[in-house]
This record gives sequence, C-alpha cells and structure tokens, in this order.
Amino acid sequence: MRAAIVNAFGGGFDIEDIDIARPIGREVLVDVKASGLCHSDLHFAVNDFGMAPPMVLGHEVSGIVAAVGPEVSEFTVGDHVVGSLVQFCGACLECLSGRTVSCLRPEATLRADGAPPRLSRRGEPILAAMGTAGFAEQALIHENQLVCIDPAVPFPEASVLGCGTITGAGAVLNAAGVRAGEAVAVIGLGGVGLNVVSGARLVGASRIIGIDLNDEKLELARAFGVTDGINAGEGDVVARVRELTGGGVDHAFEVIGRKETAEQAIAMLRVGGTASLIGIHGAGGMVEFDANGLLREQKKVNGVYMGSANIKHDIPLYASLFLQGRLNLSDLIASEIAIDEINEAYEELGSGRTARTVITRF
Ligand code: APR
Ligand code: ZN
Ligand code: ZN
Repeated sequence: MRAAIVNAFGGGFDIEDIDIARPIGREVLVDVKASGLCHSDLHFAVNDFGMAPPMVLGHEVSGIVAAVGPEVSEFTVGDHVVGSLVQFCGACLECLSGRTVSCLRPEATLRADGAPPRLSRRGEPILAAMGTAGFAEQALIHENQLVCIDPAVPFPEASVLGCGTITGAGAVLNAAGVRAGEAVAVIGLGGVGLNVVSGARLVGASRIIGIDLNDEKLELARAFGVTDGINAGEGDVVARVRELTGGGVDHAFEVIGRKETAEQAIAMLRVGGTASLIGIHGAGGMVEFDANGLLREQKKVNGVYMGSANIKHDIPLYASLFLQGRLNLSDLIASEIAIDEINEAYEELGSGRTARTVITRF
C-alpha cells in the first residue's frame, strides 16, 4: 500500500509502497478515507519526540473497517470509524478515573515487543507512529483507539474529530470549565484553536476574542463564533483585550505553543481568571509570569493535554452536535489533497494561512 514515510527528521515525507500486516488480537484494519494534517505531526517529523524514523505519522484518521482481529468486539466490517492518538488500556487507575489521556499503560494498544511489526518495507520494520499511522492507504489500529461514528458525517469532517476537535473543544468543555456568560480569548486560530472557539460558543461564552497574526484566519474564525478579532501583529495584544473587556477575560487559551503567547494568555486575564495552555512547546520550553501578580489576582494556569478527552464519549458527542448543525466542522477543511502533495501542504500549514488540509486520495 502507499504511505508517506518519514525516513529522517527534517527530511520531509517520501511516498513509498510498504506492507501492512493482517489484524491480530484487538486490531482493526481500516481503509483510510481521510487523514488530517495536524501541526503536531510536523513537530514529530522534524524533532525527536521519542518516535524514530523510518515511520508513518498521521493521527487524524477516518475510514471504513476492512477487517477485524479475532478478539475485536466493538467493530464489524463496513463500520465508519474515527481514530485517535489517545492510547489507553481501559483498566489502570487513571483510565478507571476517567483520565484516559493519562493512561499508565498506553503501550497496551500497540503490538508487544518482539511481535511482527504492523508496518514493514521489504522485511524492515517501520514505526506505526502513535498507533494510528494514518498517512497511508490503510491503517491497523487497536480498537481502543477507534470510535464508530454515524456514516452521515463526511470523512474529512470526521477525521478532524480525532484530534483538532477533541483537543480544542475538549479544552473548553472538559478542562477549563468555561461557564455561560464568561469572556474568552483564543490565541492561535489554527485547526485546534478554531475548535476552542467552537467549544466556547457551545457553552455560551459572552464574548469570544480571536487572536491571530493572519487576517484570513480572523475572518474565518467568525464562522465558528468569534465575536472580536485582534491581529497580534498590530499593537499590544494584552492592552487590546483589556480594553475590549473592561479589565481582561475570564479564560484565555493559548493554542500555538510559544513562550510569548503563553505569557500573553496569563497577562490578559481578569482577577480570578484561568489561562489554559494547549499548544505544544519545543523540548524544554519554559514560560515565565509575575508570581506576585498571579497570587494577588488569583489567576490559574491550567495545562491541558488532548482536551482531557475520553474519545469513546467525546467523539460521538461532537459528531452528533455536528449533525445537528451546532458544531462547525466543514469550514475547518481548507482543502482535500492527494497523499503525493503532503510536503507542499505542510509548507502551507507552516505559513499559518490554512486551517485543516485533509488527504482524501491515496
Ligand atoms: N500570535 C497569534 N497567532 C499566532 C502567532 C502569534 N505570535 N504565531 C502563530 N499564530 C497562529 C498562526 O497564524 C495559526 O493560525 O497560530 C495558528 C496555529 O495554527 P496551526 O498551525 O493550524 O496549528 P494547530 O494544528 O491548530 O495546532 C496548534 O496545538 O495541538 C497543538 O501541536 C499543536 O502546538 C500545536 C498547537
Ligand atoms: Zn493532532
Ligand atoms: Zn489505562
């Protein structure tokens, strides 16, 4: 099958023919119909986050079940499914407490050491990164990392549910606990940030201030519920937020992964406000804040990972809100491409001009 392989960090993606194994145990073989280009995969393709080439990345996957392993109980051939990089065992203390993103045995969804690899090239093993490896014609995924969804959801929209939406909307609904009537700011209106905006609209935020360097993103964000846009390249962002809200926001979300914008998120809070940090920083990244200011103004800094999602609950919920017309997914999809165009599409993403590009031809 055709797949986009990372053969060296920073070397881009090579389209090659590789082999995929038959499903064993609780594995499901999925015919991939759409695979989203999340910014995190670009980080993983360039820097060492513990996943080593040769590897197949891609963790926003939707498709149709083509075959199931002998122990699979939840899926049958023909089901429409969404995959997610959240690897959870379902039995450890964190899983049983509902914190599946912090599972103590995430390797439970991968093949055991020494077992034949899921992916290989002329006998040489290739890492199926994150247990999803979605940048390929087919993907072999443990059933815990898959969710069945209503076939009425188109595949591109479905793929985004697997990361962008659970991370962005989940940060609002599960992690920050934004209440109706509160004022929200979102810094970084990419594929994840626009879903934070959607979450804020769903819970009834009084004001949703979108902040980005790109005017097209600010315009696009209105279709998700942004009430006020600020171009971060023009003047003092924090002063502008204070002016718009008469003192600051109740919740600020940083969805880029930069020191400067994380510090802005903390600085733009009103008394008692919460800054939720979502964007992934470079290895060893540090953030500074005025300690006395933080305690005097009773601010909170909230680290959010994968929107504290429980995928089996959250993904069907967002799919249903989409089908009811209450969650905008379609405007996230900037373009559909062939897998051969992945390098150009990632260059475009790096420029900050597009929301989500989705591979739909393999
Ligand atoms: N101020 C405001 N906006 C900025 C700035 C800045 N200094 N720098 C970049 N941006 C904007 C870009 O213009 C773009 O719209 O941030 C947005 C980032 O969006 P994407 O590149 O689409 O990234 P996304 O996939 O949304 O992921 C954002 O969340 O999950 C993590 O790893 C992911 O760290 C990444 C972050
Ligand atoms: Zn992602
Ligand atoms: Zn677990």
